[in-house]
Amino acid sequence: MVLHDLKFVEKNTMVDHGKVESDGDISLAENLVILSMAKFSVDYPHFVKSSGTCVVLRAPDKHDEAKRNRKLRAYLLGNLDRCAVCKVGETGDIGLLTTSAETEGYLCYLLTATRDSSIGITKVENTGDSRKEAKVSTSAQENVTGVKRGSEQLAAMKHYNENLQRDRSTRHKSYILHLRNLNNCVKSHLIKYGVKCSKKAAVAILDLGCGMGGDILKWLKGSFEVSRYVGVDIAKASLEQFARERLKSNPQKEKVTHLICADLGTESLTSVDNTLDVHTWGRRDGSIYGKWEALSSPLSEKDKFDVASCQFAMHYMFQTSKKASHFFAEISRHLAKGGVFVATTIDSRVVVDMAAQVEACSVRDEDHLGKARKTDQQRRLMFNDDFGNTLLEMSFGGDAWNRMILPAQEQRSLTGEDDWAYGIQYVFQLRDTGDAAAVNAPEWLVPLGAPLERLAARHGLRVALCKNFHEVVKGDFEKGANATHIPSNLGKFGVFNLKGTMSETEWKLAHLYVALVFEKL
Ligand SMILES: C[S@@+](CC[C@H](N)C(=O)[O-])C[C@H]1O[C@@H](n2cnc3c(N)ncnc32)[C@H](O)[C@@H]1O
Repeated sequence: MVLHDLKFVEKNTMVDHGKVESDGDISLAENLVILSMAKFSVDYPHFVKSSGTCVVLRAPDKHDEAKRNRKLRAYLLGNLDRCAVCKVGETGDIGLLTTSAETEGYLCYLLTATRDSSIGITKVENTGDSRKEAKVSTSAQENVTGVKRGSEQLAAMKHYNENLQRDRSTRHKSYILHLRNLNNCVKSHLIKYGVKCSKKAAVAILDLGCGMGGDILKWLKGSFEVSRYVGVDIAKASLEQFARERLKSNPQKEKVTHLICADLGTESLTSVDNTLDVHTWGRRDGSIYGKWEALSSPLSEKDKFDVASCQFAMHYMFQTSKKASHFFAEISRHLAKGGVFVATTIDSRVVVDMAAQVEACSVRDEDHLGKARKTDQQRRLMFNDDFGNTLLEMSFGGDAWNRMILPAQEQRSLTGEDDWAYGIQYVFQLRDTGDAAAVNAPEWLVPLGAPLERLAARHGLRVALCKNFHEVVKGDFEKGANATHIPSNLGKFGVFNLKGTMSETEWKLAHLYVALVFEKL
């Protein structure tokens, strides 16, 4: 038997939790550091419980540590779907600690796992033969209509397909309720602003990465007329939920002419080469019903929209310059002249700044608010709340991190003009409620500034506005005719807590987001 240290990260400090005993198999685990708690069904749907190396949590000598261990076990036993996410040894690999109802004492299973950088999902390495099918496939797969989609896109698709319930039912439990309310407030204003800029009496909307249709009422119940709405998303289950729950009994549902299931980085809404799952309306016996069909080119070149919108989804399209270019070409093709494209995404300027600060301070293996945890393979930016819960972790592979912090000049000389700016991948794990992750899929930095301006220009678009959420909260998008008076509406959207503000951590998280407006020239 080998004894290992068991430690928790609490309030940014490492706390001893006694020892773990193993039969020696887990050579990686010189120590285990519990990082957070998770749910198999939500966070790790591909893991099979109780299939890993058997370890025994030993009752430690000191009383308070024993209590801590009992608490951990009670947590794990309280709901068999739960696990503790831990760092295994010094390698930075992720392990999942779980336990089983049948066992006595502190018997737990450690599922040793590695982080698969190509898909950003941790996967079990040492499952038994019978459980091989539970492994995550990392190869490209086909969608139902035979279109090949990349593994990263499948990871995003899976994540969003499997997290359908987190939208409304868990909202009141959210650690980041006020941030979510702020996001809604900004989206609502951005949408109004886009509509005002388009100067149309009735606007046609193209909503890219529309998900479950959480924004549909912002469009259909806004202070403006909508002539038509088309939603596109890679996650079909999200679109099905959109049609079923948000549209079925909505009197304006016919305005939602199409919900299209497509990968916006590779698939075209007009090309005959793609066959896509599309939801449209039909009529039978005088009543309207929604139907799904496999269609090629659901839209034609003639389908033009006044406002295109991509809320919190644009970062999925920047894996390569080809994908980003495809995405912008689709937007440009379908935007009417004078139309606008509004978007919200991660502010890469803030992320790069934080990473550079971390490098400058050479913070090693320490957890701080907004500081990084560095290991050889991975770099992480972590945001903890006052209770030591990690609300957000952005983890980068070593290569992505290094490319991100190299000065732009040097990067250009490495790979030619703007190539360096694409494919800077991270996994964004935003903890929403006690046991559900709001987002847990690979994303790519959107290179704000010159590279994005050049990309937009190549597709006949101009970046008209680029404002961090901090700037947005403090003022309006613009003075004059298109002003949207945001500060006076924050209270109405429930952005403030009982103290009449947002928590410090949520405010820091808000700094990570940016609102963008593009004009079609
Ligand atoms: C954070 S959600 C945002 C949903 C919605 N726009 C909102 O603001 O509530 C991101 C959405 O992007 C979609 N998505 C991710 N990758 C995509 C891709 N390659 N093509 C189309 N949609 C994608 C996801 O399925 C998900 O619904």
